[in-house]
Amino acid sequence: MPAIPTREANWYDYPEYYDIAFRGDTAREAKFIEACCKEYLPTRRAKGPRFRFLEPACGSGRLVVELARRGHDVVAYDLCPPMVDFVNQRLRRRKVSAKVMIGDMRTFQLTRKADAAFNLINTFRHLTKQGAIDHLRATAASLKEGGIYVLGIILIPEDTTADEAYERWTETFRQTRVTVTITVPKIDVAKRYEIMRTSMSVRNGKGSFRLVTDAKMQLYTPDDMRRLFAKVPEFEVVNTFDFWYDIRKPEVFDDRIGDVVFVLRKRSTKRGSAARRTRG
Ligand SMILES: C[S@@+](CC[C@H](N)C(=O)[O-])C[C@H]1O[C@@H](n2cnc3c(N)ncnc32)[C@H](O)[C@@H]1O
Repeated sequence: MPAIPTREANWYDYPEYYDIAFRGDTAREAKFIEACCKEYLPTRRAKGPRFRFLEPACGSGRLVVELARRGHDVVAYDLCPPMVDFVNQRLRRRKVSAKVMIGDMRTFQLTRKADAAFNLINTFRHLTKQGAIDHLRATAASLKEGGIYVLGIILIPEDTTADEAYERWTETFRQTRVTVTITVPKIDVAKRYEIMRTSMSVRNGKGSFRLVTDAKMQLYTPDDMRRLFAKVPEFEVVNTFDFWYDIRKPEVFDDRIGDVVFVLRKRSTKRGSAARRTRG
């Protein structure tokens, strides 16, 4: 069988295929985000039924479109122009509205604040440690008091090795079949980074090709997250879940946890001095 043509490229520049790879969990994630609002927002706002959402690093906008379609007011941003163009085209095509623009997680702040923000599937690990602190502060500043940030990330135990980090799945949409294989050719646990290699094979009616992307990703242990959150007292952790997104089944945040969804809540500025300090 002839080898499939392969090129090095940034897979985020190909939103139509990225979107197919991740579309499977979208409805479940959207329902979980709504359930978090009902459970953790202050009582007067928890009823909704309409929430104002912010999605940092929205990628292909699968959740933007789903939540806008469910009647919510959604603002989102991403650093990658092809992703932002793709979401805006899709919104137009689906005749639903949301505001989607170019923005950087380290700096983006909303003026009209949101009830809730969400950032799933490990996107947070694109940020360096300082970038993560800046991002959490900017996101807290974008939320109303008592607002929540639903943050999904895969943590590592101290003794991780590259051999353990291997993932592969296939999704098909209409005539297009996308297989994603994730490997880790380099890992430095002491320095808390890894090179994540994503190989995305695309087969459709026109032929097939493979894109290979290497990205430097920050690593976090559960203790690293505790230390990080301690630096951003604007937020408190109100609960933790796993990637099954079941609101009835919180997951204990201990040192063995791997896939974790934190529900962070913005503290009241009346009680804490920390949020005042960052604004002043
Ligand atoms: C794994 S995708 C996740 C997309 C989306 N959150 C989802 O659930 O499908 C990661 C996205 O993060 C974006 N990204 C990476 N670094 C960023 C930054 N500093 N600011 C904004 N977006 C960033 C990439 O362009 C990419 O679209």
